[in-house]
Formats: sequence, structure tokens, C-alpha cells
Amino acid sequence: MIKAVILIGGPQKGTRFRPLSFDLPKPLFPVAGYPIIYHHIYALSKVESVKEIYLMGFYQPNEDLNRFIVNAQTEFKIPIRYLQEYKMLGTGGGIYHFRDILRSGNPKAIFVINGDTAGDFPLVEMVDFHNRNNCSFTILGTEATENQSTNYGCIVEDKQTHEVLHYVEKPENYVSSLINCGIYLLNLEIFDYIRDELSRNQSTEFNNGVFLPDINYARDSIMLENKIFPTLSSTKKFYVYKTDNAWSSIKSAGSAIFANRLYLNVYKKSCPNRLAKNGEGLPRIIGDVFIHPSANVDPTAVLGPNVSIGFGVTVGPGVRVRESIVLGNSVLQNHCCILYSIVGWNSIIGSWARIEGTPSDPDPNKAYAKIEHQSLFTKGKLNPSITIIGSNVNVPAELLVRNSIILPHKELGQSYKNEIIL
Ligand code: GDD
Ligand code: GTP
Repeated sequence: MIKAVILIGGPQKGTRFRPLSFDLPKPLFPVAGYPIIYHHIYALSKVESVKEIYLMGFYQPNEDLNRFIVNAQTEFKIPIRYLQEYKMLGTGGGIYHFRDILRSGNPKAIFVINGDTAGDFPLVEMVDFHNRNNCSFTILGTEATENQSTNYGCIVEDKQTHEVLHYVEKPENYVSSLINCGIYLLNLEIFDYIRDELSRNQSTEFNNGVFLPDINYARDSIMLENKIFPTLSSTKKFYVYKTDNAWSSIKSAGSAIFANRLYLNVYKKSCPNRLAKNGEGLPRIIGDVFIHPSANVDPTAVLGPNVSIGFGVTVGPGVRVRESIVLGNSVLQNHCCILYSIVGWNSIIGSWARIEGTPSDPDPNKAYAKIEHQSLFTKGKLNPSITIIGSNVNVPAELLVRNSIILPHKELGQSYKNEIIL
């Protein structure tokens, strides 16, 4: 039996995801029609030996999270529970704090998954690899460019055996282009390593009077990536399973558009019936498009590629949407045009209005390039990015909104370019 933990973090993080995370915790933000962590649960449901799933974070329990859990349990027929940390315990401190729950029933291993990732996760293959090689700890790795690798955990492997020889979290200089995808399969022995490291940590802190870097972190917080993986690297028990499957982390809103595209593409193989089709009396569909069954799309609209239309959305005549996510209950009035944008819940885009952003896609000319999670500003100037229309925003007819972020509950009175409207 295997148990799984999805690390969902908490409200302090996800600043690059505002204003979308105002309405809903980031892990529940819909990409390709489903919440970000729904996709992890879907992938876990395909691993027969996974019998329990835990969401671990420091969000206050809330209605959205509860509803999500109830729905996912019903759909996947697998027990799912939320384990709330009393403070940020880090990626290792949380699983250690709840070790009794995780160890009960004596699972063979525990999947630990960073909730802010997207991909065609090869979890079944990872379990096979873990068992075949008799690993104690397996990490999922993928290639990145030399430049980008330093934004991730970097793994040096023995090319023959795939044993992890070195692990460095976000090194200052290039170490290896094999990066950590944030997905691990760990035997219960992991708790011994965390316990030892925690006791070492706490005694040095006490002796040196060192303060924790962030007051939100609890004393018993610990990051697997900084403290545990480097230690495991010399044990001959730690292995990397490499994948060439699509993978991305989700940090900024721009990466949500990218993850949307990634999952729509995965649907082609895993659940083609989720993709919209062309046909008589139906809107024109280009490439991969998801339309929620409750949405009402005019047959003269043109959607795609890489578009998700949420529940209850109304898409009027002549509307054009491309590379965008339109969230629940929004209204796109006739002939408006939405390109590289996210339209928040309950917003109205007027007739002939144009909402346009700049894609932040990975460089297509570089093998293994990942998306750049750039910050909102460079030297006080807003970086061109996708346009985000917050929830309950009204964009009147014929206005143009480009590379801008509009906070919720606004009624725009003019066009905007490269601005944040607070
Ligand atoms: N429950 C809980 N408690 N979750 C947490 C905490 C915590 O205190 N801190 C972080 N997380 C969750 C985040 O929500 C996220 O899903 C995951 O742990 C990792 O978050 P970060 O700490 O922000 O790390 P990162 O995303 O910059 O880097 C990690 O992921 C990369 C892959 O996306 C590292 O694991 C890298 O090595 C890795 O390459
Ligand atoms: P590429 O050749 O791939 O660069 O795209 P494009 O030249 O078709 O232009 P663009 O990416 O700007 O537009 C994407 C789609 O939206 C095209 O099918 C355009 O016809 C359509 N489109 C662009 N602007 C508008 C608009 O203001 N209103 C409507 N209804 N459609 C538009």
C-alpha cells in the first residue's frame, strides 16, 4: 500500500498569482477546466497501490477546499483528507509532524508531491522503478537548460545506476541540468532522517542563538530539499527516475496559461472526451479546447488553440478566444477578443472589447526550456505578461486592455496598457 501527500502550502505564498488567489487558494485554481491539484489526484488514482491521499498545508479549512475534497473523494473513490499545519512546517516538517497518520497501516512508501506543479506525471512508472531498483527514496527528475536549472533543485546522478550522487537546491552556479520535479516516493525510513536533522538543527539554533529566517516558519519546520536530500545523496538509497514527459511548475499567472495548454494536450491521450469537437451548429474549435458542459457558446464564436471555458460562461456571437482561461459565470459579449489572458469569475467583457496579453512561453528554440517565472516588476516597471481580469470586473464595450492586471470589482472607464489597476 502507498499513501500520498500533496503539499499545498498556504496563504502567504503565491504572491505572483494575485489577484487570482484572492478568490480561491491557488491549488484550487482551474487549469484545463479542473483545479490544479485535481490533476495530481487524477494521476494518483491511476496508481493501484495508492490507497489514501492527504492534502497538507497551512490554509484555514474553508468551504472551497472542503467541497473540492468531497467531490474528488466521490469521483475517485479514494479517501482524501486535509492535514493542516499550525504554522509553515516546510516540505519535510509537515510530513514529520503528521508521521503517525502517515505511518499507520504501514504503507510501503509515501508519495510527496509539490502541489504547484503540472505535468504528464509518470507515477505508475515511478513506482515500478522504485520497486525494481529496491530504492528507499526516488525523486522524479527532468532536463532543463543550463541557465534555468539553477532555479530548481539540481541532481547529479550516476548515469548507469541512476543513483543520486549530489543534490543541491537552487545552486548559485551551474551544477547539473537534471532538475527536481517536486515529486518523490519515500520509504518510511525518511522519518528517521528528518528526526535526526531536526534535532541537529534545533540544537545548533539554540547554541548559536540563530533566528529562523521567516517568523511564519515554526521551530520544527524543515525543507526536504535543503536539509534532507543532500544527506540522502551519499546513502546509496536515493535514486532519480528521469522523465521526458511534459512538466512545469506553476508560480505566476503566466504559467497557469502554460499549464492549461500542457493539460489540454495531455487530455488527447488520457481523456479525449474532455476536449471540444467541431460539428454542425457548434462553435469553431481550433486545436485543444475545454468547454464546461454548462457554458453557453454561440456557434459563430471561434475558440482555440489552448482555451478553457469555465462553468456557466456565456460566449456571444463572433467572439474570438485564444490561449486563455475564462473562469466561471463570466460573460463574453459579441465580437470581443481574448488573447493570452485570464478572465476571472463573474466578469463581463463588453462587445468588441479586446483583452490581450503577452505570452511568457518557454523558448521554443531551446531544448528542455522551461517557463520563466518572472517577477511582476523589473526596476519599477511592469513586465509584459498575460492580461488578468480579476473577478467581478466590468470591461465596457470597445475598450482595449493590454498586458495589464485588473483587480477584482472594477468597472473600467477607459482602455489600459501595461498597468495594474488597483
Ligand atoms: N504543506 C506545506 N507546508 N507545503 C509547503 C510549505 C509548508 O511549509 N512550504 C512550501 N510548500 C509547498 C508549496 O506549496 C509547493 O507546492 C511546494 O511545497 C514547494 O514549494 P517551494 O518551497 O515554493 O519551492 P519551489 O517551488 O521554489 O521549489 C521546489 O519545487 C521545484 C519544482 O517545482 C523544490 O522542490 C525544487 O527543488 C523543485 O525543483
Ligand atoms: P498568428 O498568425 O498566429 O500570429 O495569429 P494571428 O495573425 O491570427 O493574430 P492574433 O494572434 O492577433 O489573433 C488571433 C486570432 O484572433 C485570429 O484568428 C484573429 O482573426 C482573431 N482576432 C484578432 N483580433 C480580433 C478582434 O479584435 N476581434 C475578433 N473577433 N477577433 C480577433
